[in-house]
Amino acid sequence: MNKQPLKIVETVLRDGHQSLAATRMRISDMLPMLEKLDAAGFYALEAWGGATFDACLRFLDEDPWERLRTLKKHLPKTPIQMLLRGQNVLGYNHYADDIVTEFVKRSVDNGVSIIRIFDALNDTRNLECAMRAAKEAGAHVQGCIVYTISPYHQDSDFVKLGQELVEIGADSICIKDMAGLLRPYTAEKLVRSLKAAIDLPIDLHTHFTSGMGDMTYLKAVEAGVDIIDTALSPFAEATSQPCTESMLATLDGTDRAPQIELATLHEIADHFKKVKAALAQDFKLNTNISIDPKVLTFQIPGGMLSNLLHQMEEMGTADKYPLLLEEMPRVRAELGYPPLVTPTSQIIASMSVLNVILGRYKMIPREVKDLILGKYGRTPAPIAPEVQKLAIGDTPRIDHRPADDIPPQLEKFRQQLAEAGYPQASIEDVLSYAIFPEVALNFFKKYR
Ligand code: CO
Repeated sequence: MNKQPLKIVETVLRDGHQSLAATRMRISDMLPMLEKLDAAGFYALEAWGGATFDACLRFLDEDPWERLRTLKKHLPKTPIQMLLRGQNVLGYNHYADDIVTEFVKRSVDNGVSIIRIFDALNDTRNLECAMRAAKEAGAHVQGCIVYTISPYHQDSDFVKLGQELVEIGADSICIKDMAGLLRPYTAEKLVRSLKAAIDLPIDLHTHFTSGMGDMTYLKAVEAGVDIIDTALSPFAEATSQPCTESMLATLDGTDRAPQIELATLHEIADHFKKVKAALAQDFKLNTNISIDPKVLTFQIPGGMLSNLLHQMEEMGTADKYPLLLEEMPRVRAELGYPPLVTPTSQIIASMSVLNVILGRYKMIPREVKDLILGKYGRTPAPIAPEVQKLAIGDTPRIDHRPADDIPPQLEKFRQQLAEAGYPQASIEDVLSYAIFPEVALNFFKKYR
C-alpha cells in the first residue's frame, strides 16, 4: 500500500480558470502570487496548454510563449506542467510530425517541465510523436487514459491502455476524467487495478461537475493514487477541480498528508478570489456555475449542454432540446463510443444537433466523415454500418496512423508567414501561426 505523501498539482493557472472563467486569466492576474505559489510545495503547477494558448492570442492580447517565459522566470522551483492534445497539439486537427516535434521542443525550451499528453480516442499512435519529442527534450512525459463510460470501456481496457503508454515511454500515467464521470468506488477499483499492473506514478485528474470529485479523490487516495490535481478555492468545484485547501485539510494528520502548509495558501486564495471577480466584470462572464449531475446521464459536460441549449434557442429550435439529450448518446454509440473531449465532444454534439433539426444523418459535416474514415484514429468500438454507408459510401477507412498521411508542414507555414509580411518570424511565431493562423496574424498585426 502506498504510504508516500500525496503529491498535488495546482491547476489555478490553467484548468481552474479554463473551467470557471472561460480561460480569461491574464498574466498580470497571476504575477503577484507566483513566488508564493512556487514556494508552497506543489508537485507541479499546471499553467500552460489546453485552451490558454488560443485564449492568449484571441482574447488577451498576450503572446502565449512570452507568458510561458514570464511564468518560468517567477517559478524557478516548481515544475510548470502543460496539457497537450497529442497529434492535435493545441488545435483541433491533426498536424504533421515536424510541427508536433518542434512545438514540444519549444515548449520545453521556454519553460515547461511536465507534459501531459492525451488523445481524444485513446489511440496511442496519436501520442507517439509528441511523447518521443518530449522525452528527447528532457521533459517528464505523462501519458493519459481519457476516462469514459461505455460497454467498450472496462477497467481491463484502461489497464491495457496504461500498459501501452508505459511501452511508448510514459514517465507517469494520468487518468483524465474531464467530465467528472468517475465515481468514488469506481475510482478506487480502477486505481488499484492500475497500481497492480503498472510500476509508474498514477495521477488522477477529475472535475467536480457531477458533485463527486472530492469523494472520488479520497477513494483514489485510499487506493494508493500518487498525484491528484486540485484548484485553489476561488477556482475550484462546479465544473473545475475539487478544492486544494479542503483536500489538504481532509488528509491532514494521515500518512498520505501532502507536504504543503494549508495556512500558506489562504493569502494566495484571497488574491485569486479578487481575480475571479475582476475577470467576471472585465469579460462579462457568468462565473456563477453550479454542479450538474445530468452529466452522469448524458456524458456531455454541463457547460457544453448550456451552450447547446443557447444555440438552439437562437435558431428557434429550443423545443427540440429534449430530443437532443436523447440523440447525443445514440450518435456517440453509432460513431464508435469515442470519449467526449476536445475535439470529439464538438463533433458528436454538432452531428446530434443536425440530426434533431434536419433529420437523422441528412447532412453530415466533414469532421464526422473524417472520424468515420479513421482520420482521427481508431474509435473504441466499430462504427454502425448503416451510418458509415450514409457518410462515406464505399470509401475504405484508413487503418494506419492518421499523421502518416500528412507531409511536413513547418516550412510551408514559415513561407506563408513570410509572404504575409513576417519573413523574420521566430520559430515560436511560426508555430502560433501553424496552430491558429487567423488569430495569430491578427495578433502579429498589432504587436510585430
Ligand atoms: Co481538466
